[in-house]
Amino acid sequence: MLRASVTVDPAAIVSPVHRRTFGSFVEHMGRCVYTGIYEPGHPTADADGFRRDVADLVRELGVTTVRYPGGNFVSGYRWEDGVGPRDRRPVRRDLAWHSIETNQFGLDEFTAWCRGLDIEPMMAVNLGTRGLAEALDLLEYCNHPGGTHLSDQRAANGHPEPHGIRMWCLGNEMDGPWQIGHLDARSYGRKAGQVARAMRMADRDLELVVCGSSGSAMPTFGQWEATVLEETYDAVDHISLHAYYEERDGDLADFLGSSTDMDRFIDSVVSTADAVGARLRDPKRIQLSFDEWNVWYLSRHQARAAAQPADDWQVAPRVIEDRYSVADAVVVGNMLISLLRHGDRVTAASQAQLVNVIAPIMTEPGGPAWRQTVFHPFALTARAARGRVLHTGVTAPRYTTASHGEIPLLDAVVTFDEEEGTASLFAVNRSTDQHLALAADLRGLAPTAVTDARTLSDEDPYAHNTMDAPDRVVPRPAGGVTLDGGRLSAVLPPVSWSVITLSTSRN
Ligand code: AHR
Repeated sequence: MLRASVTVDPAAIVSPVHRRTFGSFVEHMGRCVYTGIYEPGHPTADADGFRRDVADLVRELGVTTVRYPGGNFVSGYRWEDGVGPRDRRPVRRDLAWHSIETNQFGLDEFTAWCRGLDIEPMMAVNLGTRGLAEALDLLEYCNHPGGTHLSDQRAANGHPEPHGIRMWCLGNEMDGPWQIGHLDARSYGRKAGQVARAMRMADRDLELVVCGSSGSAMPTFGQWEATVLEETYDAVDHISLHAYYEERDGDLADFLGSSTDMDRFIDSVVSTADAVGARLRDPKRIQLSFDEWNVWYLSRHQARAAAQPADDWQVAPRVIEDRYSVADAVVVGNMLISLLRHGDRVTAASQAQLVNVIAPIMTEPGGPAWRQTVFHPFALTARAARGRVLHTGVTAPRYTTASHGEIPLLDAVVTFDEEEGTASLFAVNRSTDQHLALAADLRGLAPTAVTDARTLSDEDPYAHNTMDAPDRVVPRPAGGVTLDGGRLSAVLPPVSWSVITLSTSRN
């Protein structure tokens, strides 16, 4: 059997575990909102039309923040359409996803849904078809306590208390030619800088996210970040990163190394942001908001979208409802390891998206809701990652991939909550056919017992869950787990993600 090892030192701390790492994303796209989180008339719907079965799964998933309302959708959105009496809300075309938007769900419904689930809302402003004035109006409507035109309108709409939204995205993927109102880096940077400075005049406590590249493969990647930050460095707190991965050409081994690309993407953006800060002689450090990440079979979607008739405008069509496999879940678990490992700079993240649209939760209109495979590593990581992230040394056999070069078969990270007396090890075996015998030297954490150990793997790496077989793939007890004098052993099956939690005596 192949062997790999992990070492940690409790004094070698990366960062706190940021709760915002476990954010998600609700876009007005496909069935994420309509027949996803919101379906009046559904047997489980509450008085507001929110599906309780979905809400229960969102709670179980452990989502902490939700970005809204897009995504590409936001670049054509008029937020005013979605507030006030429902019978007066206009029906519009959404050009981004070629569908009909009824506006029956808008920002007041969104914030109410978030509050009910103890989720922090994260709002995006439209910098595609709109700009500064509309962003300020939206901010006044959301956050001003009262006594002004728009805050009184909010109160008249049934929300006397301000929504108190702290995190704001300045547009979405403005580097992408597909974006409505797409701009070059200098023009976007100037526009975003103006919007950010004016928003701060209204509310100093905001946290503002400027658009980075929509992916590291964009031809403008790097230059985009540098130019945009030159224009906005003083006025923003975060820069966004987006990344989606898929298995290409049946190369599973390569796909399982996807988080290597995520690691390099993060490191590149940190270097670029810090280089701008150095040039500007500004000691401030820009944080990274990885506010879209997931597995997405984008190439399949592009082929379907190209075949869609131009006169086909539907309400809540079934769009990019990817069905996730065990291998997809292992990659998602590995991306969470990457996000945790970079907690010194990645302080917020949103898995895209939450329900139905490339999502951990699936629903049937009028029917059940169920967990996709990718639900499990997210939920277990959100629950077990506590306290601080530790620098985690990994020694493992390496393998050669088509896209990422030579990479280790094992990836892992350890979190340690000294006060609570718990530690968690998250580990991925990227081998497609070999078990890995893992030896983790955790003596520095003084572990006393293994409290839980679970693995997501399957004889068939392409097994998935469906409405009729919603628990075909679930985490199972991890194999060969022993703890002896602070040394933890486990056997990780091929194509697997695992979490092992321990009690420790250092509290
Ligand atoms: O999450 C789906 C889409 O992916 C978003 O709307 C867009 O921002 C990204 O390209």
